[in-house]
Amino acid sequence: MELQNNLCENKVNAAQTIIFLEEKILIDEFHRSDLHAKPWSLANDFVSALRELQNHFLLAIVKDSGKETPSIDELLDSLSREFGIIISTSLKEDDIPAECRYHLHPGLKLSIFAGESAQDPGSFLPKNLTLCFHNHTDMVSWILSHPHPYRNLIDSLLSGAQVIKKGGLVAFPTETVYGLGADATNPGAVEDIFKAKKRPFYDPLIVHVSDREQMLQLVTSLPAKAEELIARFWPGPLTIVLPKSPLVPAIVTAGSPSVAVRMPSNPIALELIRLSGKPIAAPSANRFGCTSPTTAKHVHDQLGGTYDVMIDGGACIVGIESTVISFLGETPRILRPGGIDQQAIESCIGKVISEQKASPEESSTSPGMLPSHYATATPLRIVDNLSDYASRSDVGVLLFGKCDQVFMGPVEYLSLSSDTAEAAKRLYQAMRKLDSLSLSLLVVELLPESGIGIAVNNRLRKAANNA
Ligand code: TXA
Ligand code: MG
Repeated sequence: MELQNNLCENKVNAAQTIIFLEEKILIDEFHRSDLHAKPWSLANDFVSALRELQNHFLLAIVKDSGKETPSIDELLDSLSREFGIIISTSLKEDDIPAECRYHLHPGLKLSIFAGESAQDPGSFLPKNLTLCFHNHTDMVSWILSHPHPYRNLIDSLLSGAQVIKKGGLVAFPTETVYGLGADATNPGAVEDIFKAKKRPFYDPLIVHVSDREQMLQLVTSLPAKAEELIARFWPGPLTIVLPKSPLVPAIVTAGSPSVAVRMPSNPIALELIRLSGKPIAAPSANRFGCTSPTTAKHVHDQLGGTYDVMIDGGACIVGIESTVISFLGETPRILRPGGIDQQAIESCIGKVISEQKASPEESSTSPGMLPSHYATATPLRIVDNLSDYASRSDVGVLLFGKCDQVFMGPVEYLSLSSDTAEAAKRLYQAMRKLDSLSLSLLVVELLPESGIGIAVNNRLRKAANNA
């Protein structure tokens, strides 16, 4: 009631957190909704999200001042009449202190803002940090668990950094997938990562750094071509294998004289590394051999109870793991396709080797090359013709793009617009969702074999044990 009164009188308590929605979100959601339903009937999950948020916060709309959109008023009116959701049109973002605002953008993006006092010099977190989500439910649950968004995030980073320093485990987001991290220079802490994941000790870990000097301490040489890749693609989803320095314990590299290093681009990951002052060893935060995680919930579902702190940064924007490239041989060699595609790498440093069929020795030095990995519990099959399974209600279908076929079983779209980057971002989420439905089989079509589609297909083949 208090909220409603404030709203009606257009009075806002300065400490009240406000959710600003871009006008375009409502319009987009309207277009997504069933056209045959009554006018202004919005997608159900969006309406439930707004309702849930309204129970805790004030909702306000950011009007696109440049445009005349009389329909938006009608839409707001209908939201209030049909669903009891009231959205203020008179509040302006500038009137509200930065730390009391969330800003929802189209495409499930959420911005949060540092207040004046919250900003630490040298921080990797921008003053305006944007997180993304797979669905409205995830976004709402993030908002509800971060009522003071920027402050809450910084607090979890500070406790995560303490845990790393003390030899504990932290689950944290990167732009590719969530990682399960520990101080890479502490063998006992690294051992706990292997135990938590039930990962065999022969599978080496990637070490994450937040700056170049930290990387230089971990390696004994840096070939010119590796330098070029670093200059072009770091921070980002590219992991480079180089001869290791004595600072890196043998357990990190599975006894190998080489170490895999990467500087992630996710500001939350960078800030965790900076605050801890340690290079962080981190595999994907899933049980060994299983589907990788792109949300904090995915991590919790498989590894809950094994780490000391979780830093929830929403969904990962790349969605599949980094490309791993080795500089140990004459010619650089891609050990695992990933977020940076071979063409981009070759345009920077020329020809590289990219066979991903592992010889037995290579399987033990880079188990990401093992034929079965990333697997769902439900068997997954790659098929040429998905419509062969249309009448099977016990079969889940993973579709790349839009499809006119009607399926009796549940369907997950990787990208309605057949965009390979979007498909990569949604891949593991979609696999996990179908995997949770107790189906007898999952069927999937491969993506076009180019760009990041190559890495997605690599994961699908391994999940299907088909490599
Ligand atoms: O995007 C990523 O790379 C994510 C995030 C958390 O950074 N990490 C990740 O780690 O995918 P993981 O452990 O799931 O996969 C690491 C891959 C494995 O295939 C491993 O065998 C390979 O990198 N690797 C690690 N160190 C290596 C080394 N010294 N030589 C060859 N391959 C190595
Ligand atoms: Mg992994």
